[in-house]
Amino acid sequence: MKPDILLETKDLSVVFPLKKETMFEKRKYLRAVSGVSLEIHRGETFGLVGESGCGKSTFANTTLGLQKMSGGTVIFDGLDLGKAGKKEARETRLRMQKVFQDPAASLNPRFTVFQAVSEPMRIRGTFDREEIRERTREMIRAVGLGEEDLKRYTSEFSGGQQQRIAIARALMLRPDYIVCDEPVSALDVSVHAQILNLLMEMQRQTGVTYLFISHNLAVVRRICSRLAIMYGGRIVEYGDADRIFANPLHSYTKALLSAELPLGKEEARERMQPEEYRKEPVGELTEAEENHWVARPPDGGDLKKSEK
Ligand SMILES: Nc1ncnc2c1ncn2[C@@H]1O[C@H](COP(=O)(O)OP(=O)(O)O)[C@@H](O)[C@H]1O
Ligand SMILES: [Mg+2]
Repeated sequence: MKPDILLETKDLSVVFPLKKETMFEKRKYLRAVSGVSLEIHRGETFGLVGESGCGKSTFANTTLGLQKMSGGTVIFDGLDLGKAGKKEARETRLRMQKVFQDPAASLNPRFTVFQAVSEPMRIRGTFDREEIRERTREMIRAVGLGEEDLKRYTSEFSGGQQQRIAIARALMLRPDYIVCDEPVSALDVSVHAQILNLLMEMQRQTGVTYLFISHNLAVVRRICSRLAIMYGGRIVEYGDADRIFANPLHSYTKALLSAELPLGKEEARERMQPEEYRKEPVGELTEAEENHWVARPPDGGDLKKSEK
């Protein structure tokens, strides 16, 4: 069966101009995202994994239209976002949402829960008050809070509860696509499972598609059906999560999986610098087995072995 593709990027690149040290210096550029081609299927949780600074958020923001692309294409539900008219692009954007890493920073502390959760519907301007109240109540219950919480300020809640509020808010306009950018990284470990379960439950109820960003493979393993491993702005491995976990092909993926790499923290980053896999070239993605692509050349004989 052909997969139902919600979002597709082709050869997507984002380049940032760097500050010049002196006025005579030639301007240098940073390639944050480089030639990324991915397909995200409707209704799935697609994982994007990689160390801090590898380009995950920049990629995701480009799919949301929040970051300008330097090259390539983003196609959302059949619409080429780069070529879409203003009105089409705006309407498409209403079908997309984002859940941030830090819920406290993503919620206005002077808002009550009701104000925070209902805001997307109020801004939209096409709903009447009763409808807004009804859906806000419904949504706040769906994420595991009570109606009595609607009057309290968002700042009165714990991190985990604030993330529930942020998830309720993201779901208000019944989006097709939500970028979850490290949605549990800033939260206490004790609430990770609850928030992940909530995201999965909301997906079951609404059919929403997630692009789930994480530097934590254990988290991704729990909830993603397919994933891409990003490294230095490129995709080094891509495909069915089960296949990648069972048979990692690129040495970078192997290093991640073997937990040689504690990811995400600054010290980890430093420690990673001189490692061998950093020098491994990242080539074109080629299909190594069904639904499993790797950027050649991966490390030596291993690919041959797995190809048999
Ligand atoms: N607006 C920007 N201007 C310049 N450089 C940026 C900007 N946003 C991100 N970068 C750089 O692009 C790279 C990728 O960043 P990012 O996408 O945030 O990575 P990740 O989400 O994987 O941690 C980093 O080197 C970062 O410093
Ligand atoms: Mg990021």
